[in-house]
Amino acid sequence: MMSDSPHSAPRIAWITGASSGIGRALAMRLAADGWRVVASARDRHALESLATAAPNVVPWPLDVSHADAVAAAVTAIEQQVGPLSLAVLNAGTHRPTPAASFRAAEVRALVEVNLMGVVQCLEPTLAAMRTRRAGHIAIVASVAGYRGLPTAAGYGATKAALINLCEALKPECETLGVKLQLVCPGFVETPLTAHNTFPMPFLIPVERAVDRLVAGLAGNAFEITFPRRFALILKLMQMLPYRLYFPLIRRVTGA
Ligand SMILES: NC(=O)c1ccc[n+]([C@@H]2O[C@H](COP(=O)([O-])OP(=O)(O)OC[C@H]3O[C@@H](n4cnc5c(N)ncnc54)[C@H](OP(=O)(O)O)[C@@H]3O)[C@@H](O)[C@H]2O)c1
Repeated sequence: MMSDSPHSAPRIAWITGASSGIGRALAMRLAADGWRVVASARDRHALESLATAAPNVVPWPLDVSHADAVAAAVTAIEQQVGPLSLAVLNAGTHRPTPAASFRAAEVRALVEVNLMGVVQCLEPTLAAMRTRRAGHIAIVASVAGYRGLPTAAGYGATKAALINLCEALKPECETLGVKLQLVCPGFVETPLTAHNTFPMPFLIPVERAVDRLVAGLAGNAFEITFPRRFALILKLMQMLPYRLYFPLIRRVTGA
């Protein structure tokens, strides 16, 4: 549904965090569907191996936490590859920030990548799309942003901020001719979750996540979630008053 007709020029997608996990699998899928995919992350070798596996992929090494480098990259991508039709701002990282060893520096590191990394990619991308009054941006947050979860204060705060940011920008972007979508994954099998020692309910393979993501990108719903059942359960938990939420979350997580 998202591929081009065989006679039109390939549309161009930029995916951040494309060296592994969801971003890599999405890059492979879009490239197979006829997109030209600019793939960014810090790991140059992983991006080159992705481009070897999928010739429609252009490796574009980038650290999203470096604002000047990000702005220069978007300008250079548009000049050298072409105008972006789609940007999937997916780069993110996770580390636990438990209360017992809470450190501002660890939260700051998460904010620099998960929140400011997205914001820094968003500024030049939105500016370019605004000028054309055309384009599509998807921001990858997490169901962990719905409510506070034990040991995930820093990660959850960055993802909650992204959810609020997208909600705020969505109506304005619509007026500007830019489609903005929010992606909230539950547990997906990727390097990010590989080291989790706690049970991960409704964990899905990355290919299934990408099926949902690609279908969501082709649709018009503001929020794309997967697996849906887990997201629904967490949405229902959002409605619980604190006096019910805290005992429940303690029981479920053992916190
Ligand atoms: N897997 C899940 O269960 C799950 C659930 C909810 C949300 N998410 C979100 O989904 C997104 C993708 O996660 P994933 O599970 O696919 O994890 P992953 O396999 O660890 O991928 C994370 C990607 O982000 C890139 N990245 C990290 N720091 C970066 C930086 N400073 N600059 C540029 N790229 C950077 C990594 O590449 P380099 O290290 O090469 O830079 C990698 O390509 C993240 O935003 C994550 O929070 C994942």
